[in-house]
Formats: sequence, C-alpha cells, structure tokens
Amino acid sequence: MVANWLAELDGRRIAVEVPATSANLGAGYDCLGLAIDLTDRIEVEVRSWSRGEIELDIEGEGANELTEDRDNRFVKGLEATLVHLRGEIPDGVGWRITMRNRIPLTRGLGSSAAATVAGVVAADALAEGGLGPAEMLRLAAGIEGHPDNVAAALLGGFVVSAAMDGKVEALRFDVPRDLRCVLYVPELRLPTEAMRHALPETVPFADAVANLGRVALGVAGMAGRRTDLLRFLTVDRLHEPYRAEVYPQLPRLIEAAREAGALGACLSGSGSAIIAFTKTVSAVARIEAAFSAVAADTDLPGRATVVAPRNAGAKVVDRG
Ligand code: HSE
Repeated sequence: MVANWLAELDGRRIAVEVPATSANLGAGYDCLGLAIDLTDRIEVEVRSWSRGEIELDIEGEGANELTEDRDNRFVKGLEATLVHLRGEIPDGVGWRITMRNRIPLTRGLGSSAAATVAGVVAADALAEGGLGPAEMLRLAAGIEGHPDNVAAALLGGFVVSAAMDGKVEALRFDVPRDLRCVLYVPELRLPTEAMRHALPETVPFADAVANLGRVALGVAGMAGRRTDLLRFLTVDRLHEPYRAEVYPQLPRLIEAAREAGALGACLSGSGSAIIAFTKTVSAVARIEAAFSAVAADTDLPGRATVVAPRNAGAKVVDRG
C-alpha cells in the first residue's frame, strides 16, 4: 500500500501560486482578510529516494532565512494534508522545494499563511485528494492557529472567516477592480506571536461594541461594493491601540494616509506593514509620499508600494 503510493508519486512536481493577505482590515480582528496581488510561487517535487531529506531553494523574500526542516510552514501544510489523505507519509520520502517568494516575512502580509495554504493545495494535487475549500481551510487554520490569513490566501478576494464548532466558516466576496492598496512595508519585523502578546486579556465593553458596528458596516460595504465604508471598517479599538505601544510609529502612519486622502488605513495583520485604500491614481502618489515622510521623520526605513487586491486565491499553476 505504502510502496504503491511512493511509486505513484516519485518524481511528481506541483507548483502553486498563492497570494499575500492583509488580515483584520482594522476592526475585523481575526475574522477579516483581503488577498492582494503579491504572490509566492512554490514548487515541490517528490523524492522517494532522498532518505526523508528536504532540499529547499529560495529566491526572493526569506532566502537564507527559512528553515529546511519540517517546521517550514509549506512542509507542515504539505505533510499534514498528505497524512490526512493517505494516513501516513512513508519512511524515506523527501521533498525538493523551490520557492520564488515576493511576500515579505514578518510584516503582517500573511507569508506564513501563504506557505501553509500552498502546502495544503500542493498535497491535495499530488495525492489527487479532491479536498474542498472547507477541508483545506480546516487543515490550514489548524496549523496557523487563526483562519483570517489562510482563508483569504486560499479563496482570494475579501473574506470573512471564523472557526466555529471545530469547522472554519468562510465567505468570500470579489473586490471592486478599481480599488488599490497602498502599502508601507517597513524593514522592521514584528513577529505575530509577540504582537499577540501585546494584547490585553479583556477589553472595555464600549470598545467591543464600537468594533461590532464597524465590522458590520464594513462587511456589508465590501459585499455591496460600497468601498467608501472602508472608512469605518479600518478604525479599530481592540488591537491597534495596544500594538501601538510596541510600534509607536503606527498611529502617525495611519493618520498620514487618511489625511492624504485614503478611503481608510490600518495596520496590516499584526504588522509591521500599513495598508491604505484608494480608488484614485492621484491619491496613490499622495499616500505614498505621506508614508515616506512619516517614516523618515520617525526613523522607520522601508518602502511604499501599490498593489491591487486579488480576487483569485491559491491555485496549482504547474503539474509536472
Ligand atoms: N489576526 C491576526 C492578528 C493576524 O492580528 O494577530 C496576524 O497576521
């Protein structure tokens, strides 16, 4: 049984393209995400003769940084999904993994969720598992710990998600094609775990109620193509005020983008990137300039860049 599986997969190659994601979008802590048009391409080749070794070749973001072991998020997603589909991974099976990464690491742009999702999608394709999005989401969210980034990376577009009763519920909406995201991506790295530790155990009732209203309006707005409502959605009282204590430049960057004409601006995921939204070309340049001015003034080197949201989620782009 096991020998057959190996024989079947040896030498197979699968390449997956997966988008970056921005979680929270302000008030939607842990339940909203947006896929953006900045992608990683990850290819895996099965090597049944490699004594279980992992060979990793990385170009772009994370080169010389990501681990060549089973803690690598792509490998975790891949192996967890193969175990789910086939019961076990035969001894001796190894992977040759080639990553062409454009998603910056530890900046709140979902690089780890993207790698996890790519692993799940690649495993499903390799093993011809026929998994649906719900099962893929459950597997990926189980590895990541929260579903917002993985749901958006898998499904693309604007995604509402929550882990409920052992399942991940997720609903996606296409994002209007003229919406643009202006990012400020600092060199500063803020690991998600540390940024989650910055949060309090409890929050004031009034802050929770304020966020509820903003999320409700924001979700209805994105579903109904009322992107002007991003103005309400991107204002948060549950996590950004606490995260600003360890990232003091945050409020000024957000304020500068709003003053420069953004429809809304907020911390991307747990940071350090900031995301601002606009539909006008002139505002893009103003927002980029505003970010750069605050960054220079507050000693936060980095780069401003503009990307479109991406309505396509993770997909297999090559089956060798
Ligand atoms: N929702 C998560 C957080 C996303 O804000 O901690 C991490 O990118």
